[in-house]
Amino acid sequence: FISEKLGLVCLNPMIIGHRGASAYAPENTFSAFKLAQKLGCHGLEFDVQLTRDGVPIVIHDETLDRTTNHVGQVSNFLWKEIQLIDAGLWKGEQWRGERIPALEDVLTECKGMYLNIELKNSKIAYPGLEETIVRLIERYCDIGNVIVSSFNHSSLQQIKKLAPHIQTGVLYERQPKDAVSYIKNLGGTAAHPNFRFVKKEQVDAFHQEGISVSTWTVNSLRDLKAAIRSGVDRIITNYPDRLRDLLQLT
Ligand code: G3P
Ligand code: CA
Repeated sequence: FISEKLGLVCLNPMIIGHRGASAYAPENTFSAFKLAQKLGCHGLEFDVQLTRDGVPIVIHDETLDRTTNHVGQVSNFLWKEIQLIDAGLWKGEQWRGERIPALEDVLTECKGMYLNIELKNSKIAYPGLEETIVRLIERYCDIGNVIVSSFNHSSLQQIKKLAPHIQTGVLYERQPKDAVSYIKNLGGTAAHPNFRFVKKEQVDAFHQEGISVSTWTVNSLRDLKAAIRSGVDRIITNYPDRLRDLLQLT
């Protein structure tokens, strides 16, 4: 397509809502996911932790403190307790009553969108998480429309070992040395670099080896334009409307 605003000819990247449309609605809730879709997202990125009874739930932090009306470690609560907690009020009174979603419900209700499930298991160990995730993906997802990402790269290797057909995204802040070989050795489908380290030459090198690229978390107009120019496949943003407008998708 030709972007008049950028003066470029390029392939459109997919628009991925970071924790949903999290600039406008409480992150990692169904309101944020629905709004993301309304604002033009092709996909959603969201974070997964495990409850004490092993239920995967969608919340970014290891604790409830920042985004709910409760405090404490997520892993100390049972799913039946989590269901009573408010996950919207912290963002404003109009979001009162939002709940922390179960991963299972997101996979079924947001089917049709590209789903980026981020496993939040680099600061905390969740035994059995990989098996549980594979089981849920196999039960509910279109395999081409879902990817599991994590900063915990051995967890991604484990996913690949359990289910080689499931796509994995290798998240990193700083680019690993010889990034292409690094990701190939992990069996990764995609590189998920912080946008600060994305260069067109590196994106081209990934593409030559069949590795796609999702970059995060790109919010300002300047950074969104740079991400588009770099040729990445997916841009993860809190402001999907900004990216949609830049791409002139209305
Ligand atoms: O998946 C990309 C990005 O979400 C990773 O960082 O802290 O926002 O989960 P964080
Ligand atoms: Ca995330």
